[in-house]
Amino acid sequence: MKKRVVIVTLLVGATLLNATTNKEIKQEAKSAIMKMGGALKSHMKQNMKAGGPTQAAGFCLEEAAGIAKKVNSSYPKGISVKRISLKYRNPTDKPTVDEAKVLQQIQNDVNTQKTIPKMIVKQVSKNSYKVYKPIFINKGICLTCHGDVQTRDPEAYKLIKAKYPNDKAVNYKKGDFRGAFVVTIVK
Ligand code: HEC
Repeated sequence: MKKRVVIVTLLVGATLLNATTNKEIKQEAKSAIMKMGGALKSHMKQNMKAGGPTQAAGFCLEEAAGIAKKVNSSYPKGISVKRISLKYRNPTDKPTVDEAKVLQQIQNDVNTQKTIPKMIVKQVSKNSYKVYKPIFINKGICLTCHGDVQTRDPEAYKLIKAKYPNDKAVNYKKGDFRGAFVVTIVK
């Protein structure tokens, strides 16, 4: 009888600790993603405005990686952000086996119309976590470079295809699940 009480107390203790860590991890991930997403978005917008889809595609191809690198180096130690997709364009955005499982789970949940959480926290080891933030094709403008033959901008896509001949990131429709930001946090 006594033994059982001890076990229950331990379990409750562990769950409470987990909830606090979980919240803290999510907050760290959120601010890291906001910084990355904000930097990429504002540059993309500027280029789209200045020179349309072709210039914006040029920006993605030439400068996006550099901006991502710069933002990554500005984070506190132990935090990094990347983007992944099951249908990736840039081969560096190919998910690892574990990451692909999480993406597939999200895709299955989308297919069966389950509610998708804003963020999913996975503990990788004792002191490290991966936080996934799903990305959707939430704007019509995404289709300029990720849509089908009808919706893509042919000139912009020519540039993209030249750099990424094995591009998988096309034929999306508005609302589709596109991939995720992954924040790796090592405590
Ligand atoms: C002007 C063209 C263009 C537009 C518009 C655009 N993208 Fe992309 N996207 C690209 C290019 C090019 C890459 C590859 C970037 C690189 O070289 O790393 C990319 C990469 C990505 C990736 C990383 C995963 C991968 O496949 O490599 C995600 C996620 C993504 N885009 C989502 C979106 C979403 C969501 C929108 C709309 C809000 C959008 N894109 C609009 C051109 C575009």
